[in-house]
Amino acid sequence: DWKIENVLEEEMAKIRATVGPTDHVICALSGGVDSTVAATLVHQVLGDRLHCVFVDNGLLRYKEAERVMDTFKNHLHLPVTMIDHTEVMLARLKGLKDPEEKRKAIGAEFINVFQTFADNFEKDHGICPKYLGTLYPDVIESCPPPGTGQKHSHMIKSHHNVGGLPKDLKFTLIEPLRELFKDEVRALGRLPALNVPEAFITRHPFPGPGLAVRVLGDVTEGDALDVLRQVDEIYINTIRDFGLYDNIWQAFAVFLPVRSVGVQGDQRTHSSVVALRAVTSGDGMTADWYPFEPKFLQTVSSRICNGVRSVNRVVYDITSKPPGTIEWE
Ligand code: XMP
Repeated sequence: DWKIENVLEEEMAKIRATVGPTDHVICALSGGVDSTVAATLVHQVLGDRLHCVFVDNGLLRYKEAERVMDTFKNHLHLPVTMIDHTEVMLARLKGLKDPEEKRKAIGAEFINVFQTFADNFEKDHGICPKYLGTLYPDVIESCPPPGTGQKHSHMIKSHHNVGGLPKDLKFTLIEPLRELFKDEVRALGRLPALNVPEAFITRHPFPGPGLAVRVLGDVTEGDALDVLRQVDEIYINTIRDFGLYDNIWQAFAVFLPVRSVGVQGDQRTHSSVVALRAVTSGDGMTADWYPFEPKFLQTVSSRICNGVRSVNRVVYDITSKPPGTIEWE
């Protein structure tokens, strides 16, 4: 009979069978539930032969890097190195407006950082590390041949294309959660043996390219990223205040590359417009817009316009998927 405790045992046994007694494994953490649960599970088996990396790509939400690093280190006790790649990433994105171009650039930079981390590891330790799969599940998709412990080829999900992986990226993949459904991954994470915090387990999905697909057009224009971070934080906190977070599949703000005329105090303004989006969904393939009460919309709109000086207009997206996608880019 099926029990999540047995799944944990099986997954651990698989790791023991795949990873030799002197092997080391490196793992990229995205801050999402899958890579966190996978790393926590592998850490139980391998201890300090697991090496995690978390990349701050400059496209994260408000205080995201410090918040997830705090959970990784102080709650989950995972060995994590944070790499701040903000400057290089934003320089690379400067002037890019096309969503696919942006995704490709971000994917390529991510691979650069990860490959450098792996190369340095090999230089420092004299061992070629293995690579933990199920990380960045929507960014890197692997297509493994049957059997375990073999060299795997990689491909990229076309609908979330982030650009090609280098041909010479030769890692052995281990993929502990590959056959599990999202709910099973969550149930695993909740087991006392893994003890992933509930707030982490129930987080809304966040796309690999981060806020770059939520600042429409060139993400480096003005202070769009910072404005978006502030707006998003107020929006999510208000959703929590109203007790709605767990009713919603995903909620976020979008920075629009337009200006609107407004009046703040007795001043005429010509400032930024943000769109709010919230959807319910089962799997992200189709989605309905979330019917907030007017009281919520009123509160969040005034909190945003009062709290973020350069925003003078807030609109709510009432498009389902289809015909819209969940993200705007
Ligand atoms: P769309 O916008 O296609 O989004 O309706 C469906 C789900 O996928 C997420 N998403 C992405 N995730 N890389 C990711 O890792 C991407 O490029 C990407 N684009 C969309 C989106 O947030 C939603 O959960």
